[in-house]
Amino acid sequence: MTAIDLGRPVQGDVVELILEDHRRFEDLMRTMRDATADRDAARRAFSELHVAHALAEEELVYPKLRRKRAIGEHEEEHGHEEHAEGNEALLALLELSGTDTQAYDDALEKLAELINHHLTEEELTILNPAREEVGDQVRAELGAAFAERRNELLDQGCGSEAQVRKIVEEARGEGLLDDED
Ligand SMILES: [Fe+2]
Ligand SMILES: [Fe+2]
Repeated sequence: MTAIDLGRPVQGDVVELILEDHRRFEDLMRTMRDATADRDAARRAFSELHVAHALAEEELVYPKLRRKRAIGEHEEEHGHEEHAEGNEALLALLELSGTDTQAYDDALEKLAELINHHLTEEELTILNPAREEVGDQVRAELGAAFAERRNELLDQGCGSEAQVRKIVEEARGEGLLDDED
């Protein structure tokens, strides 16, 4: 079993670092669809990256963009909800024992639908304001902080099935999974 390299960038424009991860999500989803690939390794790598990336965004990126008035409460809250929905669909995929079943294909399709939606919406409504309303210096500082937190979470191992289940339960407790918004 070979671990998939998720990269450990240490600096860069936060917008570019986030986009690099979004491309990794897309590549990993493509691998998860490939019947000849190690789909289980891709599924586990996706889980680690999704948890680390989303938490680093929630802890550092969204709050900073709000303080800079690039995004509002609605964008931040909606981002949290979509991360929670992604984690819920991810958990359903992680809970399946096999990767060569109809249940796996269905769970992956659901996950891909939510993730593709979130990546699109985040790039349109959060990264565009960051590009247009936040200066290079702040984007670089935020990039370094985002990368450090993301890498720390990856190095800890943050995306096991049990950890994702706990995150989903917490999100449900916070009402993030209550309604369609
Ligand atoms: Fe993102
Ligand atoms: Fe996100």
